[in-house]
Amino acid sequence: MDDVIIVKNLTKKFGNLIAVNNISFSVKKGEIFGFLGPNGAGKTTTINILSTLLKKTSGEAFINGFDVSKEKDSVRKNIGIVFQEPALDNRLTGRENLYFHARIYGLTKEESKKKIDELLKLVELENKADKLVMYYSGGMKRRLEIARGLIHDPKVLFLDEPTLGLDAQTRRHIWDYIKKLNKEKKISILLTTHYMEEADFLCERVAIIDLGKIVAIGKTKNLKDKIGGDTIDLTVRGKNVVNFIKEVKKLKKVKKIIKNGKGKIKLIVGKGEEMLPKIMKIADKNNCDILSINLKKPSLEDVFLHYTGKNIREESVDLKKEFMKRRMKMRRH
Ligand SMILES: Nc1ncnc2c1ncn2[C@@H]1O[C@H](COP(=O)(O)OP(=O)(O)O)[C@@H](O)[C@H]1O
Ligand SMILES: [Mg+2]
Repeated sequence: MDDVIIVKNLTKKFGNLIAVNNISFSVKKGEIFGFLGPNGAGKTTTINILSTLLKKTSGEAFINGFDVSKEKDSVRKNIGIVFQEPALDNRLTGRENLYFHARIYGLTKEESKKKIDELLKLVELENKADKLVMYYSGGMKRRLEIARGLIHDPKVLFLDEPTLGLDAQTRRHIWDYIKKLNKEKKISILLTTHYMEEADFLCERVAIIDLGKIVAIGKTKNLKDKIGGDTIDLTVRGKNVVNFIKEVKKLKKVKKIIKNGKGKIKLIVGKGEEMLPKIMKIADKNNCDILSINLKKPSLEDVFLHYTGKNIREESVDLKKEFMKRRMKMRRH
């Protein structure tokens, strides 16, 4: 079987609120699958159901063939999870945190020691392993949590907002670890995020979720292609600008042309890189100077906007609160 996660018509209601609304998707073996959406979209709720921590209202879900509501023990053996909220014991060292967890999962002393050494190496915390976690930075804590999630060799790893509250540089590091462990351990990963760039960098496929519903699903590249082409912004000057625009309009694969005044033009085109030389030629012919030209490929941000009609960052008030909460928590610990 190639699908390590199968979700069919999954729904979760909290009273009147439908937090997860009839979603279906599957995750293939060895894949990093992204669950992308703003705060409150239903991402954590979905992960909680898949990891047997929360009861579904209706629908079905299977991890490695095991039913999440009927075969909880088998499901738990097959998954590792890194929660959205940090959950480490700050009064223990990194190594002790891992050891404690390993013993809970039934590893012997010797197995634990071996596994812990291997994982500390994977997340590059060997040198800090015997320091108390309270002295770890946010990024180090996340790495330790990732190592902890891997201790019983799960087939599937859930990462709920793995870089929330981390600075840009640390986030990049965490991304590298996630890629590395996916590659080296061949582990399948379901990660949730509200960072478009994160999903773009890490995931082959994503489901975009908004208000409990999957609004788009597929390979990131296909989703971007579907929404209709690249954007070229240019500023042009010269006597024959009107003629220039007329000729550009006639080019095949120019889907849309928007004039923004004072020689500023926005074009929606097929493949942008193929259009640039043609545009330059027309400019030359009409004695126009191109003062600036900027080609932009569609991003997942554009995909989100396309399907939901809103910008993911519009939800940023709540996210800021969440961010601050986590920051404070990290500092306190
Ligand atoms: N235990 C709960 N009781 C009531 N409502 C909840 C509970 N957990 C989550 N919700 C609500 O369900 C929705 C989805 O939440 P969540 O899954 O945490 O979203 P996300 O992880 O995408 O930010 C939100 O509106 C949230 O307030
Ligand atoms: Mg969440």
